[in-house]
Amino acid sequence: MSEQYYRSPKKKGKIAVFLSGRGSNFLAIHDAILAGTIHADIALVFSNKKEARGLQIAEERNLETLHLNPKNYTPREDYERAIIKELKKRDIDLICLAGYMKILSPLLCEEFLNKIINIHPALLPSFPGLHVQQAAIDWGVRLSGATVHFVTPSVDMGPIILQAVVPVLQDDTEDTLSERILKEEHKIYPEAVKLYFDGKLEIKERRVSIL
Ligand code: GRF
Repeated sequence: MSEQYYRSPKKKGKIAVFLSGRGSNFLAIHDAILAGTIHADIALVFSNKKEARGLQIAEERNLETLHLNPKNYTPREDYERAIIKELKKRDIDLICLAGYMKILSPLLCEEFLNKIINIHPALLPSFPGLHVQQAAIDWGVRLSGATVHFVTPSVDMGPIILQAVVPVLQDDTEDTLSERILKEEHKIYPEAVKLYFDGKLEIKERRVSIL
């Protein structure tokens, strides 16, 4: 099968969530699993930040957690080699990036090709990168939203799975727009993970069909 064609597996999947902060998207995914909506388990919650709130919440929910400090690994690729080893040990099927504030190297992207997804708080390909809610306000766009996409080495540019749109209001601040977008993130991220393990995502070239 060529790299331009991929069909997500219909199976009870094992997920690794990667996060660096508060973890509200992780919670939305875990809640959907607990509700029986997503056919998968979270086998690992991983963070590059020891103090990440999401890591503490994962512990409270009795999920396995792991923190590896990037500073202890040189060269940089050794950090991802160590991560890959941990993922393989647990037979991880899908990595969900949920506010993971570290760019993945091609090493991890290629090892888990079509098996990494991310949520981004803008309508890609507009506003990739950081601080994108403020960027959308500053640009004067009328609509923004959230995007769930497959992860490739070119940051925020992988095949798009789902998007949700919200209005940008005249008096919006970064906080009010972020909050409106986050509500949509919490709907479309679990939905994308559900579709993945229902075997319903098909990638041809860079287009994703929902079967
Ligand atoms: C979200 O806005 C997400 O789109 C972005 O990082 C933020 C993570 O928030 N990638 P949380 O940690 O899931 O609450």
